[in-house]
Amino acid sequence: MKLAASLLLAGLCFSQTGRPTLPGSPMAGLSPSEQERFRIGLQDFTDVETAEDGLGPAFNGHSCAVCHSIPAIGGVSTMTEVRAGYRDADGKFTAMNGGTLYHLFSTPPHRCQAQIPNEANVIARRAPIPLFGAGLIEAIDDSTLLALEDPDDRDNDGVRGRAARIIDIATRRERIGRFGWKAQHATLLSFSGDAYRNEMGITNDLFPNEDVLGFTPEQLKLCGAKGNIEDVRDRRTGLRGIDNFEAFMKFLAPIARGPVDDSVRAGETLFTSVGCATCHTPVLMTGQNANPSFNRKPVPLFSDLLLHDVGTGDGIEQSAAAANEIRTPALWGLRFRRPLLHDGTAATPEDAIRRHGQEAAGSVERFQELPRPIQEQLLAFLNSL
Ligand code: HEC
Ligand code: HEC
Repeated sequence: MKLAASLLLAGLCFSQTGRPTLPGSPMAGLSPSEQERFRIGLQDFTDVETAEDGLGPAFNGHSCAVCHSIPAIGGVSTMTEVRAGYRDADGKFTAMNGGTLYHLFSTPPHRCQAQIPNEANVIARRAPIPLFGAGLIEAIDDSTLLALEDPDDRDNDGVRGRAARIIDIATRRERIGRFGWKAQHATLLSFSGDAYRNEMGITNDLFPNEDVLGFTPEQLKLCGAKGNIEDVRDRRTGLRGIDNFEAFMKFLAPIARGPVDDSVRAGETLFTSVGCATCHTPVLMTGQNANPSFNRKPVPLFSDLLLHDVGTGDGIEQSAAAANEIRTPALWGLRFRRPLLHDGTAATPEDAIRRHGQEAAGSVERFQELPRPIQEQLLAFLNSL
């Protein structure tokens, strides 16, 4: 109980109106209709689906919130997902059976689950990513991310960074991906369609086909797959589930900084001087936007949203990302998130730092050369995020 209370207090920050904002709150300054969209979205995001709603045949969770609920709806959970594939002697990656995501559960229970083929020689785990402030991340222009990339290391600092050029499924336009560990999506609507089908087995306008890795259409039918679009528009609101998820995530407030003291301030300076900020860019700006909540706003996310090789790549090629690349995670809200790293293998921020190599080798060496009390300032800064 004590821990819960202190977590709650640490998350207390103040909105523009001066009222405290808790993690999981809507952004300040939304219009009444945006607040209503947020409320309906939150409801749908937490809604527990059943086979009658289209859940399955294969799924990882029965609501979005099962994996996005710590420290509030929209956050993370302790689960990890499994991806698998095959890499041949020349390094060529194949997504076996046409995909890489293997599901934890099925409807009917136990019967409709794909087996990871014995030939698979790449197995990866992925932890959830928190959604606080996702609307601001979506509102950052592609050109801002393109201006940050340096794939050929022209400035010779050892840090490259590549923008993920992808086709956005919702708009069918070339965009710069920024969501997911592989920067596989550019928009919250596309991610919603992907997650609804791939995490929950609920087909929708953007992902219309049921999918269980390696299952034939006959096997799918035996598992109850019907071939219709399961995410239908609500008769009252005219909105689909994926529209509601999009709205919830878009209007979900970022987690604000915790208390800042002298040691945190010193740590923030070190974060830049040892080179962490080269990838964990402290602030990006949103572009021009018709909606005042997203128009030219600073986004203190501590990420460049680019793909990097820091030696932790999960071996899976996905979208524009190579096997060894992972998108720099945003560090805002870090104090509410454990475990860390894409596969959830780091218990503490310091463990996560130690795991950085390759492009990040220089900055980690500089961190490790610091006297312990100075390192602790940098860690205090991380724990203020
Ligand atoms: C079984 C657990 C699980 C469920 C259920 C789930 N997610 Fe996720 N979510 C994840 C994981 C794991 C990731 C990281 C995935 C990756 O990049 O491979 C993620 C990432 C995301 C991201 C990317 C955020 C960012 O900033 O990069 C969005 C958006 C998202 N989920 C939305 C949803 C929505 C909407 C639903 C419901 C339709 C949902 N998720 C259901 C586990 C889950
Ligand atoms: C070359 C770019 C780069 C540099 C430099 C860099 N990082 Fe990272 N950082 C990343 C990437 C990419 C990941 C994700 C790795 C993964 O999950 O496998 C990451 C992950 C992290 C995480 C875990 C976040 C989470 O949500 O799991 C922390 C904490 C972190 N970095 C802090 C630092 C600190 C502190 C420094 C400086 C000492 C630093 N990073 C330097 C790119 C970088």
